[in-house]
Amino acid sequence: MIDRLTVDRILDAANIVDVVSDFVTLKRAGANLKGLCPFHDDRTPSFMVSPSKNICKCFACGKGGTPVHFIMEHEQLTYPDALRYLAKKYHIEIKEREQTDEEKAEQSERESMFVVNEWANEWFQKQMNDTVDGRAIGLAYFRQRGFRDDIIKKFQLGFCPDKYDAQWQAAKAEGYNEEYILKTGLCIRNEQTGKVYDRFRNRVIFPIHTISGKVVGFGGRVLDSRTKGVQVKYQNSPESAIYSKKRELYGLFQAKQSIVKNELCYLVEGYTDVMAMHQQGVENVVASSGTSLTEEQIRAIHRFTENIVVIYDGDAAGIKASQRGIDMLLAEGMNVKLLLLPDGEDPDSFARKHTATEYQDYLRDHQVDFIHFKTNLLLQEAQNDPIKLSRLVNNIVQSLAVIPDDITRTFYIKETAQTLEMDERLITSAVAKVMKQQREERRKQKEREDSPPALQGLTPNPSPVGEGSFEEGADTSANEEQAPIIVTPEDIEQSSTKVTAPSLIGRAGGESAGGESTGSGSFLKTEALLVQMIVRHGEKVMCDVEDEESGEQRPMTVVEYIQYSLESDGIQLRSPLHRRILDEALDHFREEGFRCDRYFQNHPDITIANLANELGHDPEALSKIHSKGITVKPEEERLVELLPHLMTDYKLAIVEERMRNIMLEMRQPEVLADKEGCMMLMKEYQELKAVQKELGKQCGDRVIG
Ligand code: CTP
Ligand code: MN
Repeated sequence: MIDRLTVDRILDAANIVDVVSDFVTLKRAGANLKGLCPFHDDRTPSFMVSPSKNICKCFACGKGGTPVHFIMEHEQLTYPDALRYLAKKYHIEIKEREQTDEEKAEQSERESMFVVNEWANEWFQKQMNDTVDGRAIGLAYFRQRGFRDDIIKKFQLGFCPDKYDAQWQAAKAEGYNEEYILKTGLCIRNEQTGKVYDRFRNRVIFPIHTISGKVVGFGGRVLDSRTKGVQVKYQNSPESAIYSKKRELYGLFQAKQSIVKNELCYLVEGYTDVMAMHQQGVENVVASSGTSLTEEQIRAIHRFTENIVVIYDGDAAGIKASQRGIDMLLAEGMNVKLLLLPDGEDPDSFARKHTATEYQDYLRDHQVDFIHFKTNLLLQEAQNDPIKLSRLVNNIVQSLAVIPDDITRTFYIKETAQTLEMDERLITSAVAKVMKQQREERRKQKEREDSPPALQGLTPNPSPVGEGSFEEGADTSANEEQAPIIVTPEDIEQSSTKVTAPSLIGRAGGESAGGESTGSGSFLKTEALLVQMIVRHGEKVMCDVEDEESGEQRPMTVVEYIQYSLESDGIQLRSPLHRRILDEALDHFREEGFRCDRYFQNHPDITIANLANELGHDPEALSKIHSKGITVKPEEERLVELLPHLMTDYKLAIVEERMRNIMLEMRQPEVLADKEGCMMLMKEYQELKAVQKELGKQCGDRVIG
């Protein structure tokens, strides 16, 4: 028990910026600081820290509070243990009375396991440094591999003697509870004989730390290379209440400060790779410990930096296998670079052959972004083989499509286009297509999750466009072999000649508006006004309408209204670019939180983004409100008046343009010669005139009304 006075001293001493900074990189934001939230998958800094109020809070997930709350949540500690943690940090002495047996028993399982591990960590080190066998076998092993004593100490390396149950006996003698010694996996009970033996006997020990330095588990390596193959090289602690191999990153505890300072993290495979790099003066390095990278691990790195360099020990199979890891890093919004070591070296073996300066120079000079890496690696074999080349492009397209940030993605698309000497628009559209597939897949996935199993298959597809072809081929794992061919060999052949084949233009969406229009600027201007409404307000509800089938009232959005209104008159928007905007708005407006303005203004297709940015802003918005002291309601509150008006204008413009065209046609000698044709045109003209009159009246009515 901690007495009240000490509690108060701890609370007074604990500074929120200090406490949070041990785990989160904070940047100034006015009077506050902010960073990536450690409690959820945060890609934009949502975690705010207020020095004046001495609290923190995540605006996305809501977690946070006082320094004590933060530590409780982050370290999964009880209130008193969080206080103890802070007391230690601020060197405040706690005079605790001896715990009763009952209180001891009440300590959480996790806590007890940590206590056992902490003891074991000390014990392993003592065995190595203070016993004859330890020094002759364990320490000698590390020294022989070239590790300096300061590195051995820094990583708290140890040794477990070659005895059946030395650790088990020692732990029990010191009063540790058998249950927890077994639960940490340090010792194992033989079910048949009931005897307990040490898991790590005759191995050198690498303790595995959490970000805050608590020991969650151990890795133990066999000593003798001759036993390789007979015994497993590395034995690791089993999965337990405190250890999950997927969650931990070896070396993060020792690396975090350096990662922040260098704004960069190196990722390697093994324990010894991490140590070797430290020894060479490169301390911003972590290891995935031989498994493929997990999202949890990526998030742990992302808390400290956005920039990662993945180091490979150079065999092509390994590189291909890690494709998914790279895509995951990209998807988490990391800037990914890759570095290949020369023929079959790993960071550890490479270190032994080079000086620290050489090593660091190599790291600096050989990292390349993932696009160059992939292209260089695959281009050689793909050269002059359009099929392989198209697979390579699709492979890269899959990676590009997972990048969440529009600017980064656009940048990489440009890079890819340049490196492969391809038309940028072709890649843009291929990426857009994959992204669309991925969204579709996510939506379907969500639907499957949301609907009870019995109803699956009966649920109608609410998608406004029926694209059944997405059923398969929407594999987001981006496996090269399964990647759907989006860019065909023909596309590449046409494109890489750098002469843009006309057939590609339409597909790439780069066509500008109004090529074939007959001199009517006003017509396209009116169309642009409709598109402007889609960009600004597409997803907003314009009014309620009666559902034709059910007779119930339902809200109608701007984009639905425009589509409905065009459809009912059999009209299509004239400009392909405008049509794409309408189509994409229809594809997405139902998605939770979807906003047309944000979507189009950040569109990967720069043509669309530019247009949307032009149309998106309303320069008159402010002046309107203040003009002559009359308050005009903002546009979005007047959608129900504005849109029908615009629609009528647009239809009127179409009619008038057609009328003008008829007049022009009728002047052609060959048309004049065709009497019947002429009659038809005259008739059409008359009809249009009637429609024009009607529409004009509607326009006028609205203007007056
Ligand atoms: N690993 C493991 N269990 C194994 C093999 C490997 O946990 N049976 C993990 C370890 O974290 C190891 C990493 O995968 O560090 C990489 O494996 P490997 O390259 O085989 O080992 P090295 O790190 O190179 O170890 P050493 O240099 O001591 O041979
Ligand atoms: Mn090695």
